[in-house]
Amino acid sequence: MLKVKNIKAGYDGVPVIFDVSFEINEGELISIVGSNGAGKSTILRTVSGLIKPMAGEIEFMGERIDNLPAYELVKRGISHVPEGRHVFGKMSILDNLMIGAYTIDSREKVDETLKEVYRIFPRLKERENQKAETLSGGEQQMLAIARGLMCRPKVLMVDELSLGLMPILVEKVLAILKEISQQGITILMVEQKVQEALEMADRGYILQTGRIITFGTSQELLESEEVKKAYLGM
Ligand SMILES: Nc1ncnc2c1ncn2[C@@H]1O[C@H](COP(=O)(O)OP(=O)(O)O)[C@@H](O)[C@H]1O
Ligand SMILES: [Mg+2]
Repeated sequence: MLKVKNIKAGYDGVPVIFDVSFEINEGELISIVGSNGAGKSTILRTVSGLIKPMAGEIEFMGERIDNLPAYELVKRGISHVPEGRHVFGKMSILDNLMIGAYTIDSREKVDETLKEVYRIFPRLKERENQKAETLSGGEQQMLAIARGLMCRPKVLMVDELSLGLMPILVEKVLAILKEISQQGITILMVEQKVQEALEMADRGYILQTGRIITFGTSQELLESEEVKKAYLGM
């Protein structure tokens, strides 16, 4: 479904990810894990068209997409939940969700999607007319994910959803992501929380200072001595 081939990307002409390649098949839940500053967010920004790669190619559903603008990628089904949530605190929960649906032009489809999203996140429905800033950190993360679903994506990319959440909430949000994945939405998540992110994924890639150093099924990675030593503190 998504094929990233040898991309190099960065800021102001200085690359921070090098020769990064990975693939996602339809329906998979993939985790790219690595420490702070490894380049995880840069990878997602490149796939979602916010940054232009300096080299390499990206294919989605069999077509080159690395020269398309971000909004066109949203239309094609790539949704990006950015790091740090970025919900609009002064706006209502419902309005935040509606912003996520800006590429959908059928009112009917928007309503149907909203219903579906509220089914997954009943708490958001209960509070739809309240300002987003009244939500707790965990609920705001849920809102960010819910907003990412409002464009009816084929693939949902989630950047560091654990950031700033208490462990118990991390578990809760991850469980919801798993549920979304089980409904057939392909998911690419990037995470610093290596163990949690691998445990729930089908496959994973390990990113170190801008390069993928190893990849495999989650189980293979979790059992690898290299990964255990470097990331799991064992
Ligand atoms: N907007 C930016 N401008 C310049 N450098 C950046 C910017 N964002 C990130 N970087 C740098 O790129 C590298 C990778 O960052 P990032 O992709 O955010 O890593 P991660 O998400 O894994 O923490 C870091 O060295 C970071 O300082
Ligand atoms: Mg990041």
